Amino acid sequence: MSVLVTGGAGYIGSHVVRLLSERGDDVLVVDDLSTGIEARVTGLPIVNIDLAAADAEDRLVAAIEEHSVNSIIHFAAKKQVGESVEEPIMYYRQNIGGLTNVLAAAERTSIESLVFSSSAATYGMPDVEMVAEDLDCRPINPYGQTKLIGEWMIDNAITSARMRGVKFNAVKLRYFNVAGAGWPELADTAVMNLIPIVLGRIADGKAPIVFGDDYDTADGTCIRDYVHVKDLAEAHIAALDYMKSGDTSETVFNVGTGTGASVKEVIDAIAEATGREIVPEMGERRAGDPPALVADVSRIGAQLSWKAEFDLDEIVRSAVEAAGMEPEKG
Ligand code: WQD
Repeated sequence: MSVLVTGGAGYIGSHVVRLLSERGDDVLVVDDLSTGIEARVTGLPIVNIDLAAADAEDRLVAAIEEHSVNSIIHFAAKKQVGESVEEPIMYYRQNIGGLTNVLAAAERTSIESLVFSSSAATYGMPDVEMVAEDLDCRPINPYGQTKLIGEWMIDNAITSARMRGVKFNAVKLRYFNVAGAGWPELADTAVMNLIPIVLGRIADGKAPIVFGDDYDTADGTCIRDYVHVKDLAEAHIAALDYMKSGDTSETVFNVGTGTGASVKEVIDAIAEATGREIVPEMGERRAGDPPALVADVSRIGAQLSWKAEFDLDEIVRSAVEAAGMEPEKG
């Protein structure tokens, strides 16, 4: 029996693929390589499928049958908030169209479990600092909306399977701010989020920019919950094992550390890890940024016995090492 990982050549997907392979699970990667990198999954079977294409459902069914797949971890999706506002239909086509084909293929085969990449973007701009899963979800951009709709589609698929007496379980994981690298060659190459952006700017000899320092937080900058990509990858394995154990009383989990860090604290950690003095520029607030977003991680701790092992300094150090920017020794 093998695990199909869609988006398995991506930043987070490839970390999960690596962990699954290390523990001896057979893995089949599906990736259209639009942002994925084949070298991240060298030596493993990979099928190139654009999940939103007209023939995707049939091709998935064929791949699932050929490789005796019984569980799916579904990462493949578009994930840039700004781009989703500019091109919402493309986001619906890829994220909702892709998931539709994955669920249709699962229904036609013997898939028993599914793990879905969801996001803290489903919460929108909550007015509480610690966010628990049962908070009302009010996403404020098309990216977050496609993730919340995806969660609803999965809930509907679970209900439908129960009505038909078919065994099918699913877990939705709401990621907070994922960063770092478990293995240098699997690092995030996209330069879309705070840590890679700051590393990129200091490599270019430029000062990083802080998007607003007049928020109602201790140092005036936004607070986020940064979680190490390797910890996040472990959460997927815990979710698969939870479904195998037959316990599926909860289906949605936050994945974070439960501890917030401000933009200034992240930049200080980068200064420490690179051994450089960094003097950031203070810029304007970025539209749509909640002042603080930190995961309440009680549910995932209680149900999946998962907790983050790495703190902010370790996350930053791993990203700095992967970028080859650690201080020279001696
Ligand atoms: C973090 C903080 C910025 C760049 C987004 C998505 C979310 C998820 C993760 C998913 C914020 C500040 C940033 C810079 C800065 N995406 N910042 N200067 O916005 O919390 O979350 O990425 O797949 O859905 O919304 O992450 O890394 O963009 O920003 O001051 O040059 O860093 O304002 O407070 P964000 P981010």
